[in-house]
Amino acid sequence: MLVLGIETSCDETGVALYDSEKGLLADALYSQIDMHNEYGGVVPELASRDHVKKLLPLIQATLDQAEVTSEQVDAIAFTKGPGLVGALMVGTMTARAIAFAWGIPALGVHHMEGHLLAPMLEDTPPTFPFVALLVSGGHTQLVQVEGIGQYQLLGESLDDAAGEAFDKAAKMMNLPYPGGPHIAKLASQGTPGRFTFPRPMVDRPGLDFSFSGLKTYTLNTVQALEKEQGELSDQDKADIAHAFQEAVVETLAIKCRRALEQTGMKQLVMAGGVSANIRLREKLEQALAKVGGQVFYARPQFCTDNGAMIAFAGLQRLQAGQQDDLAVKPVARWPL
Ligand code: KG4
Ligand code: ZN
Repeated sequence: MLVLGIETSCDETGVALYDSEKGLLADALYSQIDMHNEYGGVVPELASRDHVKKLLPLIQATLDQAEVTSEQVDAIAFTKGPGLVGALMVGTMTARAIAFAWGIPALGVHHMEGHLLAPMLEDTPPTFPFVALLVSGGHTQLVQVEGIGQYQLLGESLDDAAGEAFDKAAKMMNLPYPGGPHIAKLASQGTPGRFTFPRPMVDRPGLDFSFSGLKTYTLNTVQALEKEQGELSDQDKADIAHAFQEAVVETLAIKCRRALEQTGMKQLVMAGGVSANIRLREKLEQALAKVGGQVFYARPQFCTDNGAMIAFAGLQRLQAGQQDDLAVKPVARWPL
């Protein structure tokens, strides 16, 4: 079965072709980051309009790249939610129109299920069951995964998502959007030990997270330095980025280890934009090795939003016979 995947939930237009026999045939991405950067974050209306402009040419480019004709495509998978409603609308309506025109089924995929299964696109994929850490711009969740669609929430952030905290901390230091990769880069030049930021909720039992206090702590640190010396030096920024990243990464690692201990599982799959963070990967591998756990993640371009994860997740469900009515609508808020 050959599936065309479409992702338009936020600020990346992603398209891919995934074949049940041959694997990933093509994957194309258009990122709107440069456009939104001017405004310091995603402007929903601009995002929708840009998806409208870019999606059809990107679908054609993906077919060309794979040397596939429309007649060879068996089904369409698209991101139905959660995300920005206007952006989701573009992908949903395009998928509906193409499915109707080509006479093939369409299926709406949960964006976070796409992320969750993305590590399965790699050569050494995890096998069910496993614990998943979903860390993106909108979500921070620990989920027990028994199989496709069998998800039990173990814990989640009670306020900001980890990626959102990275983005907000970056904004406080006038770094570009999205802040995660910029914080990560600066952190590598930071002085260990100059600042120590709190590890929120690690002393409390359970698997929930909270990142808003860490955000306030970062703001206070930035403002105290600004008051003292006018503006932050590059080294100040690097030192703050280092302390911030260590706090987030250690907090996530502690809870992941606890999740494996609690469930008795040995595999931890991490997915979503923040799972591209190298320090998080290192820290998780160290923390989980102590309990005999193994960490799985996708290559960096499949950690952030992409069409391949949607094609792959869609394929799993389409093969099981699922499909949507052609009147399917996007769902902006949709629990996993
Ligand atoms: O999964 P994603 O592309 O979109 C959502 O579904 O939200 O995640 C985007 C988030 C942003 O907050 C971004 O700053 C963060 O992932 N991110 C990172 C890194 N790369 C992306 N955070 C920390 N370190 C990174 N290397
Ligand atoms: Zn995402």
